[in-house]
Order: sequence, then structure tokens, then C-alpha cells
Amino acid sequence: MSRLVVVSNRVGPLRGATKAGGLAVALADALRTRRGLWFGWSGEVRDGPQGHEVQAQSLGGVTRAVIDLTSTEHDDYYNGFANRCLWPLFHFRLDLATFDRRYYEGYQRANQRFAQALTPLLRDDDLIWVHDYHLLPFGETLRDMGARQRLGFFLHIPWPVREILTALPHHEHLVRALFSYDLVGFQTEADLLRFQDYVLREAGGSQRGNRLYAYGRSVIAQAYPIGIDTDQFATLAASDEAGHEAAKLKAAIFDRTQIVGVDRLDYTKGLPERFQAYEKLLELYPEAHGQVSFLQIAPTSRGEVQEYIDIRHQLDALAGHINGRFAQLDWTPLRYINRAITRRQLAGIYRASRIGLVTPLRDGMNLVAKEYVAAQDPDNPGVLVLSRFAGSAKQMAAALIVNPYDPVGVAEAIETARHMPLAQRRDRHRALMHELRRSDVASWSQNFLTALDHAVAAVPPGVPA
Ligand code: ADP
Ligand code: F6P
Repeated sequence: MSRLVVVSNRVGPLRGATKAGGLAVALADALRTRRGLWFGWSGEVRDGPQGHEVQAQSLGGVTRAVIDLTSTEHDDYYNGFANRCLWPLFHFRLDLATFDRRYYEGYQRANQRFAQALTPLLRDDDLIWVHDYHLLPFGETLRDMGARQRLGFFLHIPWPVREILTALPHHEHLVRALFSYDLVGFQTEADLLRFQDYVLREAGGSQRGNRLYAYGRSVIAQAYPIGIDTDQFATLAASDEAGHEAAKLKAAIFDRTQIVGVDRLDYTKGLPERFQAYEKLLELYPEAHGQVSFLQIAPTSRGEVQEYIDIRHQLDALAGHINGRFAQLDWTPLRYINRAITRRQLAGIYRASRIGLVTPLRDGMNLVAKEYVAAQDPDNPGVLVLSRFAGSAKQMAAALIVNPYDPVGVAEAIETARHMPLAQRRDRHRALMHELRRSDVASWSQNFLTALDHAVAAVPPGVPA
């Protein structure tokens, strides 16, 4: 079996991966099985020669190798091109995208430096799996440096529609770079179709089965919806430790119906719209006053980026407005917390919440939706209210599917969830769990790696470019 090399902007810990969430667990398992190497950014910013050194550490047959970013790279590559240009654009927010040549050049340079640092660590028969929008050109850069290994890429965020993507001055180069990989994976069939549409219509390419031809190269493109470690999370949620967290929450809200939202503080998550929908609920259903309690947990993310600073201010104001308008001496309608919590707390809070609100305006997959369902008590489960624009919506049709842009519709769904009979809650939960078990995170990484193991890079002779 070939050694696995995972490349991603953030690198998970080798120890205590269960605390770090599904992806770190899945990749750590695959890395352990294949005695692999995980390479990426250390999470530190450091100027000077030290930051250029690779820091490597091994545990249980897995090596973690990282480099620091310089402050310029952090500004231009991470905050700049990745998070002020690609992130909004790929989430259909052309209005929030900043196009700055300096950012693009910094992005290319950071990808080159990552490739230079990784190259000496590679072996001829490695299987290399690159992750996410930070590293679109990484495969091409590595190939230019002579890499001949099988190279796969998985995009964790949506692929945008052609009309939006073509607004990016460098769209052609970035898509062409993806053709240096042997296999490119997307979260959903819809993302795959949008990628194919670009290749066929914008790049003038062609398609045979799941192989696309363009730029004199070819690549296999497929959808591989990511999952969570369903059984492990369900077990955690049913544990005494999580039960303790659930009991603390219940004591704080008395007999009220707990509604919960858990998201990074990101404008893609539809948080202002969600707050407005909750306000609509309180406006339309006065009988809900004092009966419900909405807890939103949203830790600050990418806090140096202006658009993230703006959304935080907007939410602060909205939370104050809603509580100011509806709170009573013995009832706070909305509790809004700006920090991360442990996985044990998270599991307990999900389980103690009768309603899970997951209403992104656009999301690659959304693991919170899956975690909320996995954490429920099968005998008395809560109800998931899920945006149709989350990648997970197709797999989770048994949730209450809503349009996050429609506050009245979301308020009505919350009201439906609040009164949903036990038998219906159980039926929906059973259907959702069946799907979550069928496509969990282990099967996601196995499916991708099996396909990459078998991917053949060459363009067959006589095939149209
Ligand atoms: P994204 O990758 O855009 O952040 P996902 O929903 O796919 O969105 O994944 C988010 C992950 O981060 C989930 O595993 C979730 O449990 C975790 N997470 C989100 N908010 C918090 C929080 N406040 N505390 C701890 N973990 C969180
Ligand atoms: O899933 C999208 C993603 O950007 C991941 O690549 C990333 O690790 C996560 O969200 C959190 O964002 P960041 O790494 O910018 O803190």
C-alpha cells in the first residue's frame, strides 16, 4: 500500500484528534493505516529564516510536518486571496470579493513555498491528497518541480456558477491548475455539474464518463460528500460527560424549548437572517414568549478580515435589539456566545436542544447539521431545521428544509418543529441516521483514496484536448 501524504492549510494534531472534529479524525485514521505524512501551515506567523524551516514530529507511524507563514504570506495568501477573494466568490458572494493582484501573487508564492518544502520529503510511490481552496494550484506547482506521484484534490467548499467564477481575473489559470491532479473531488453533484459546465463551456473542453479533457490534459472529477464519525459522535453525546453538559443547560433554561445554532462566525452561515427569523417567530407567535430559548454559539473566525469584523458588529446589534424588544424579567429570548466550546460540551448541548437551526446561505457540506442529528436521543429526538443551500440538504431530506432568505418560512418551520409529534420526530431521525451511517467520514476518505489509487493520469492518444 502506498504511503499517504495529506496536504492542507491547517494540519490537525496527531494526539487528541477526537477533540478536533470529524475531518482530523478521518484523516488521522487514514494516515495511521498508511503510515502517512500530514503537511501544511503550523498556524504560526513568523518572519525571518526560522519560519522557513520544516518542523516535523512523528507519533504512531504518522508524521506531522509544518512550516510557519511570514506576515506577508499571512496577509496576502491566507487573509487576502484565500479568504477575501476565493472564499466569498466560491460562496456566491461576488459583492464581498476583493480582487487584488498582490493577494494573487502572494497566494501563488505561498503555494510554491509549500511545494518546495514538501518536495524533499516525498517518495516515488506516495499517494498525495491535497485539500481545499487554499491550495488549488499546489498540484501544478508540485508537478512543475518534477512530482510524478498520483495527486488528488478535494474541495471542501462549493464550486461556484460559471458566471461568478469568470469574474475572477485568474479563473482560467486556477481551473487549468486543477488539471494537474489525477482526481478532483467535490462535496455534491451540484458542485460537480458546475465544474463540468465551466470546463465544457468556458474552457471548450470535452467529457467522457467522469473524465474531463481540456488544456491538453485530463482529470477525473467526482462528487464525494463528506460525513462525520457518526457512531463515535452518537456515543459521545450519550456519555455521562455529555449528559452533565446537557443537564447544566437544561437547568439554565428550565422547561423551555431549547433552540440551538453552532457556527463559525462567518457571513456564509446566514446568522443575521437566522436572528431575524427568530425575531419573526416571536412576532408571529406571542404564545412562544417565555416558552423558547435560542442559544447561538459562534466563535470569531478570520477576525482580521474586514468582512468578518462587519458581520460581528451586525450580530452584536441584532442580538441586543431582539433581547431589548422581547426580554422579560425572567426570560432572555436569545443567548449569543462568541467562543469555541469542547466537543463534549457541543455534544451535550446538541442533545439537550429540541431544535437545531442550520441555515447557511451557502455551504460546501455543513458538518454541524450531521453532528446535531447524530447527537440526538433516538427515543426522544430533536428536529433539524436545515437550509436548502447547505451541501448536506440533499442527503438530509428528512430534516425540515427551509429557505434561509425567508424569515417567515424559517419561523414557521421552527413552530412546526416545536409542535412535531414524537412519532414523526422518531421517523425523521431514523431516516437521517440511516444516511449518516451509510456515508460517514471513514467511507468518504476510503472512497476517495480507492479512486485515487486507481486513477491513471495520462491523456489517451487521439483524445480531444
Ligand atoms: P465550516 O467548515 O465552514 O466551519 P462545518 O459545519 O462543516 O463548517 O464544520 C464546522 C466544525 O466546527 C464542526 O465540526 C463543528 O462542530 C465545529 N464548531 C463550530 N462551531 C464551534 C464552536 N463554537 N465550538 C466548537 N466547535 C465548533
Ligand atoms: O471547511 C472550510 C474551512 O475553510 C476549512 O478549510 C478550515 O479549516 C475551516 O473552514 C476553518 O477556517 P480557518 O482555517 O480559516 O480557520
